[in-house]
Amino acid sequence: MPLVPMKQILDEAEKGSYGVGAFNVNNMEQIQAIMRAARDTNSPVIIQASRGALRYTNLIYLRKLMEAAAEDNPSIKIALHLDHGNDLEVVKQAIDLGFTSVMIDGSLEADGKTPRSFEGNVEITRAAVEIAHPYGVTVEGELGTLGGIEEHVQASRVILTEPEEAVEFVKQTGVDALAVAIGTSHGAYKFKVTPTLAIDRVEKIHQLAPDVRLVMHGSSSVPQELVAAVNKYGGAMPNAMGVPVSAIQDGIRKGIRKINIDTDTRIAATATIRRIFHEEPGIFDPREYLGPVRDAIYEVVKARMEAFGSAKHNDDYAPITLEDTKKGYAAR
Ligand code: G3H
Ligand code: 13P
Ligand code: ZN
Repeated sequence: MPLVPMKQILDEAEKGSYGVGAFNVNNMEQIQAIMRAARDTNSPVIIQASRGALRYTNLIYLRKLMEAAAEDNPSIKIALHLDHGNDLEVVKQAIDLGFTSVMIDGSLEADGKTPRSFEGNVEITRAAVEIAHPYGVTVEGELGTLGGIEEHVQASRVILTEPEEAVEFVKQTGVDALAVAIGTSHGAYKFKVTPTLAIDRVEKIHQLAPDVRLVMHGSSSVPQELVAAVNKYGGAMPNAMGVPVSAIQDGIRKGIRKINIDTDTRIAATATIRRIFHEEPGIFDPREYLGPVRDAIYEVVKARMEAFGSAKHNDDYAPITLEDTKKGYAAR
C-alpha cells in the first residue's frame, strides 16, 4: 500500500475517539521496530522525521527505508510526516521526497527561540498550506510554545495555547492538525516535581474547533525502569521525568489525536546498548546489540499503540490517496 495522507489517519482516529502515536525515526532499526509493532497490534501509524533526521540520513536513505517499510507492510496505513519544519523550503523538500504530511512550526522565529507573533505564525502557516494542499499533503501547525507550566509561571518564553486564538488560527490558515502547548516539552526532563498539564485547554479547543486534529508534542513518558537501566550501566540521567501514559490517555479522551514520541525510543535504545556492553564486553558485531535495540523499541511502541487505542483499528477503513485529499481540498 502506498503511504496515506496523515489527515485520513487522524480523521479516522477522531471518529473512533482514539490517539495515534507519531514516532520519530533516523535509521532502519527504528523503522523496522515501529512497523513490527504496527503489524502485531494491527494499528495505523505515523512515522515522522525531523530536519535533523533528514540531514542524518542524507534524505535519500530515509526515503528508501520508508519505501521498504511500505512495501514490506502492504496492509498497514502509514503516514510519513515532516516533524517541526521551520521554513517553506524544508516543507517543499519533504513534499518532493514523498512525505504525505508536513509540520510547519511557525510558533518560533527562525532562531528557534523567539516566539513569533500570531500574525507571523498565521502568515508562514498559511503559505505552507498553500504549498502542500495542492498535492493532497496534510499540514500540521503549532500555536503556543512548548514548555512546563512551572516555567510558564516563571518565564515569558513558554506560552500555552489560548483556545480562542486556536480557533482563529485554524480559520485563517486552513491547517488540518494543530500542535497545542499544554505544558509538555521535548526531551527527558519535562517536569521537576509533579507532571502538570493544562488538559482543560484541549477539551475547550476540541469543542471550539472540532474540524482540526489536535496534536500533543513532547509526549514521551520516560519509563523509569529504562532510566534506571541507563543509570545502572554507567549512564547519567538524574531526575528524568516524562508525561504519564494515564495523562496522555486523559488528553485523548479530551480530543488529542496525534501523540509525538521520540525520547522514549531513544532511552530504550540507550538502556539496551549500555546493558549489553556492560554484561557482554566481548561483543563487537553491531547486529548483536542493534537487534536487541530494535526489540526494545518495538516493546515501547507496541505498548503505546495499545495504550493510545489505535491498536486493532488499521482495518476499519480503506486507504485513500493524496489524489483523493487533493480533490477534497480543491472543493473547499
Ligand atoms: O522535536 C524533536 C524531536 O525529538 C526531534 O529531535 O531534532 O534531535 O531529531 P531531533
Ligand atoms: P519527546 O521528546 O517527548 O519524545 O517528544 C517528541 C516530539 O514532540 C517530536 O516532535
Ligand atoms: Zn515536537
